[in-house]
Amino acid sequence: MAEHLTTSDSVTYGAAFADVYDDWYGESDDLAAVVDVLCESRPRRVLELGVGTGRIALAVAERLAATKKFATDATLMCGIDESPEMLAQLRAKDTQQRISSHLGDMVRDQPPGPFDVVFLSYNTLFNLVGAQLQFECIASAATRLATPGRLVIDACIIDPNAPTSGTTNERRGPWTLQTTSTFDRTSGHVDGITLSTHDDGRVVRRPFRIGYQPPQAIDATCERAGLRLVSRYSSWRKAPFSDSSSRHVSVYDNVR
Ligand SMILES: C[S@@+](CC[C@H](N)C(=O)[O-])C[C@H]1O[C@@H](n2cnc3c(N)ncnc32)[C@H](O)[C@@H]1O
Repeated sequence: MAEHLTTSDSVTYGAAFADVYDDWYGESDDLAAVVDVLCESRPRRVLELGVGTGRIALAVAERLAATKKFATDATLMCGIDESPEMLAQLRAKDTQQRISSHLGDMVRDQPPGPFDVVFLSYNTLFNLVGAQLQFECIASAATRLATPGRLVIDACIIDPNAPTSGTTNERRGPWTLQTTSTFDRTSGHVDGITLSTHDDGRVVRRPFRIGYQPPQAIDATCERAGLRLVSRYSSWRKAPFSDSSSRHVSVYDNVR
């Protein structure tokens, strides 16, 4: 059984994971491949929703700046995040101040745009728990997209027959992690806690909650918002997508 979340666990994802995020997940993706997909349409202005530590945004900003003609525009790469802890990490790394970062909610507070590309990477859409919130986020992004413009979503796919609870154990640098989670097949909610023990003896509990939606449901949400699926891969390296894929990188064009 998963450990039950208590009131004291109602911290944000950012507060729970910011101190270790880059160490644990910083090298999860081939950033050159990520940037290739995000910059395929040669965007001028890009917005990342849930920008976090800038893991991807900094690489995109670098690519945009490399196209010399836009190098003087400091607001080319925008990012919004609700977590001051995450944004503090981003700002410490962004020594050239290439990212215009906003503290705020990615449903209510998206910067005005227009943007050529808006993206949500690494399951960030699922940080919004509930289909309605996800729709409002995507619909808000759609209104900020230029024409042409595109939304890119990178998210995991959970096997509908996956066990409804489980525990995994892993090592990440000096940390030993034990993650216990439950999956509600009806709502798509995943509740979990990563109990992390540092080699120096520190023990930190990191709770998380996500609202999973399968790709078809995300497609329907995007369609409602005036966005049409144009490409789907199973990785940022554009590996072909199939019924057995465990992840999707989906590109939606603005047809509003
Ligand atoms: C899984 S992390 C991904 C970070 C980054 N996109 C990446 O790929 O490394 C999700 C991020 O979304 C942020 N987030 C969650 N809910 C949010 C909300 N409602 N508004 C803005 N940011 C949010 C978290 O603070 C966190 O930084």
